[in-house]
Amino acid sequence: MSKQTKRTLANLMGMKAQHAPAAWVTAYDVPFALAAERAGVDLILVGDSGAMVQLGYPTTNPVTMDEMIVLARAAHRGAPNTFLIGDMPQGSYEACERDAVLNALRFIKEAGCDAVKCEGGRRVAGKIRAMVDAGILVMGHLGLTPQSTASFGGYRVQGKTRESFDRTVEDAFELQQAGVFAILLEAMPEEPAAQVARQLHVPIYGIGAGGKVDGQLVIMHDLMGFYEPFRPWFAKCYIPSVTRQFTEFLESVPDLKQLGRSERRDGLLVLAEMAIREYVKDVRDRRFPHHEYIYSIKEEELAALRMSSYWKGDHLYPVDGNAASLMIQHCAGAPAAHVPANGAEQGVTTKE
Ligand code: KIV
Repeated sequence: MSKQTKRTLANLMGMKAQHAPAAWVTAYDVPFALAAERAGVDLILVGDSGAMVQLGYPTTNPVTMDEMIVLARAAHRGAPNTFLIGDMPQGSYEACERDAVLNALRFIKEAGCDAVKCEGGRRVAGKIRAMVDAGILVMGHLGLTPQSTASFGGYRVQGKTRESFDRTVEDAFELQQAGVFAILLEAMPEEPAAQVARQLHVPIYGIGAGGKVDGQLVIMHDLMGFYEPFRPWFAKCYIPSVTRQFTEFLESVPDLKQLGRSERRDGLLVLAEMAIREYVKDVRDRRFPHHEYIYSIKEEELAALRMSSYWKGDHLYPVDGNAASLMIQHCAGAPAAHVPANGAEQGVTTKE
C-alpha cells in the first residue's frame, strides 16, 4: 500500500490560492482505488456514477444507499490514505434534514469516507447546512446534476445562457454560505466556469468545465475506456497514452513470470496506475483539459453572459491569499433570485 498522506482542507485551500489544480478520479472498488492512490490523486469520489459504470443501471437514479456503502467501503479498503468522498444517491438527502444527516453519517462511519457530496443548489442548501452543523464535510455539485436531469430528457451542457449562468453563480454563493468545503461544476464551457472559480473562496472543481477551475475530476471508467454505452465529450481515455510505456516496462523486466508471482505488477493494475498517473501529471501541468475536451461557447452566447451582473471581467484575477482562513468564515452569498428554467440544450457527448 502507498504511503501517501491524505489531503486536508487547508491543503485544498492552499492549492486554490496557489493556482495548483487538484487531480481526482472516481473509484468504486479495491483495484481502481488502489491504482488511484498509487498514482497520487488528491481526492477520490465514490460517485453515484458507479450505478451505471460499475453496477450496470441505465442511470444513476436507482442506486441505493446500501449499494453506495458497499462501493465506498471497497474504495476505502483500496485507498485508505486518500481523501474519500461518498456521493449521496438520489433519495438519501432530499426529503428532510434528518435523512441527509443520517445518510451522510453512514458514509463516514460505515465506509470510512472523509466527506460527502450532494447535487443541487439553493433547493438543498438547508440539508447541506444541517450536515455541516453535524460536523460533516460536504461538497456541492452544480451545473449538470445527473440525478435530477437523467429522468427528465438527458444530459445537457449548462451555463451557456444568461439564466443558466446567473443561476449557477447564485447557487454557488448559496452553497458556500451553507458551508460546503468545495463545489464540483459539471458540463459547462470554460469561461463561465472560470467566473465561478474566481469569485468563490472555496475550491471549484470541474468535470467538463474547462481548465480554468481549481481542479479536475474524471470518471475512472472513462479514463480507462472501460464503459461501453457512451462517453461524455470532455472525458479522455488515457490508455492509448501509456500503452508504449507499459510495453517498455514489461520488456525491461528480466523475469515477468517471477515479477507476477512476487509482486503482481505485470498486468492491468500497473497499466491503470500508469494511465491515472499520466492524467494527474497532465492536470497538474494544465495540459488537461485542452481544447479537444472543452465545451465551446459561441461569441454571441459569451457576449450575453458578459452582460450579467455576475460577470466580473475576463481576466483571471488571483483569489485572496488568505483563502484558507476564509474557508471557515462562510462568505456572504449573492442575493437570491427566482430559479429560471433550464436554458442550455446541448447534449454532453458533442462539443457544441
Ligand atoms: O457520480 C459521479 O461520479 C459524479 C460525477 C459525474 C460528477 O457525481
